[in-house]
Amino acid sequence: MNNSSRRAFISASVASFAWLLTGGQASGAAPAITAGSPCKVKGRKRTVNGVTFVCRNAKGKLVWRKSPTVVQKQVFTVRVLESAALLVVGETKVVDVPVPSGGTTGVVVTRTDSGITALRVNCTHAGFPVARVGNVLECELHGSQFEPTTGAVLNGPAVSPLFRYEATESNGGIYVTVSTA
Ligand code: FES
Repeated sequence: MNNSSRRAFISASVASFAWLLTGGQASGAAPAITAGSPCKVKGRKRTVNGVTFVCRNAKGKLVWRKSPTVVQKQVFTVRVLESAALLVVGETKVVDVPVPSGGTTGVVVTRTDSGITALRVNCTHAGFPVARVGNVLECELHGSQFEPTTGAVLNGPAVSPLFRYEATESNGGIYVTVSTA
């Protein structure tokens, strides 16, 4: 056997050995997994470069689909005011509260007979910030008015109440809880 025949023989032997080890699956590089490429076993999962694919039935064919990303809900409870800064029942203050996704959101904090109410500052009509005017929260863009202790609509065009956050008071501070969902 000359050198070139010997090399061919060794190369063929290595390929056969790999074929045996992988149960007949080895044929060089593994087929690339991309969304929409064919797969063989329904429900099988594979992760490629941090992306998880699931083998799914689509119009009678088994194809890889990206697995939906599970988003973890994040919750922040933030001390937004000292209790002493909001002593009078009916008094309102607007504070900026950090949110888990970054940045801040405006929150209207009002002391009530029964505790604290925290409402998103943005009007539910088109998002303009509301402000305390007399006994109501008013949106000056189109004139909607809201009840400051509940967020209920008093006058439209807004039809939905202001979004309400969980608010608590303890250890001389007022806390508001915000979340990503
Ligand atoms: S945005 Fe507030 S009433 Fe239109």
